[in-house]
Amino acid sequence: MPAADRTAPVFHQVPIELGDRSYPINIGTGLLGDASTWTQVPRAAQGLIVTNTTVAPLYAAVLERAIEVRHDQVHVVVLPDGEAHKNWQTLNLIFDALLQHGCDRKTVLYALGGGVVGDMTGFAAASYMRGVPFVQVPTTLLAQVDSSVGGKTGINHPLGKNMIGAFYQPRLVVCDLDTLQTLPVREFSAGLGEVIKYGPIADTDLLDWIEANMGRLVRRETAALAHAVRRSCEIKACVVGQDERESGLRAILNFGHTFGHAIEAGLGYGEWLHGEAVGCGMVMAMQLSQRLGLVDGAWVERVTALLRQAGLPTVGPGLGADRYLELMRVDKKAEAGQIRFVVIDRPGSATVRTVPDTLVREVIDSCCRPA
Ligand code: NAD
Ligand code: GLY
Repeated sequence: MPAADRTAPVFHQVPIELGDRSYPINIGTGLLGDASTWTQVPRAAQGLIVTNTTVAPLYAAVLERAIEVRHDQVHVVVLPDGEAHKNWQTLNLIFDALLQHGCDRKTVLYALGGGVVGDMTGFAAASYMRGVPFVQVPTTLLAQVDSSVGGKTGINHPLGKNMIGAFYQPRLVVCDLDTLQTLPVREFSAGLGEVIKYGPIADTDLLDWIEANMGRLVRRETAALAHAVRRSCEIKACVVGQDERESGLRAILNFGHTFGHAIEAGLGYGEWLHGEAVGCGMVMAMQLSQRLGLVDGAWVERVTALLRQAGLPTVGPGLGADRYLELMRVDKKAEAGQIRFVVIDRPGSATVRTVPDTLVREVIDSCCRPA
């Protein structure tokens, strides 16, 4: 990365407009350790940083020092790392810490980490004393462009991904782009998948931009990261602002997730990364869209090629069509046992549809390894 790129300070603010639950997403460099970043956080006697065994040694001390001005006491709880730990047992470690420290209902929770920490911390904040304030401090690309924004919180159940949770908005989201420099390559690719997602469903200009700037993104140039995170957050903010609780439009953000969640649950959580499963799920959802006559093969191949360039798998695991269908019936979009898919109705626009099983089987057979 050029030295100039590293040192040039960057700051963008994207508002999430939700009436009295509105909040800003602050995107920039050098934010984590800067006390002025945290002046919007409510003052409270106690703050609790929730993080994990990987992120704590990298960033917990910096955040702890920076937020000391907002709280008399700052505690840190360190969770085991990984999707396999996104469950009741790990969630209870957050409640244990809150209760052991005698935290009151003004206590502020800080989710320092990727989407797993963010989803669990948000759910803990939604439930502790029936709701305490929380701040998202996402440190993965996936969390900065998607999971930290919009208030979906929760945990997995062995029978279904993210099936237990709450809509609960943070007070602030702080995306420090510098933290993305320590992300393992595979995790970074998983995040790129979620950036690419916004192209087919909402913004073909973004798709053109990613195509032209994939090299800069993969090199993690700050200016390119800033654009990708900002544009992704703008699109997500626009969707969430119209449909916070997913009564309609917000479902388009789940493009690729129906197939993706089946891959995650079918292989066992953590085997494929969430972003990898969703990336491959997008290929499957695009092929479904093509079989429905909504988009052409050249366009499907264009987006598939981008996912490949981002380092994501584009061939699904061989779970077998029966198992895929069984797993997909547990999807939150399913109604009366009918699976509903997000499909592309034209490049840059998505919709939700029920699709005959025969078509879904065809897609699974053509996109996945043999069972
Ligand atoms: P993750 O939280 O597991 O983080 C990925 C890995 O990177 C972990 O090992 C983590 O410890 C490590 N890590 C985090 N930041 C790091 C850094 N800066 N440097 C080095 N390592 C770092 O995974 P994720 O991809 O961030 O999030 C996936 C989760 O998000 C899934 O559980 C998914 O269901 C959820 N999700 C939620 C929403 C939502 O709207 N709430 C949206 C999309 C995804
Ligand atoms: N990631 C999907 C959503 O937030 O709705």
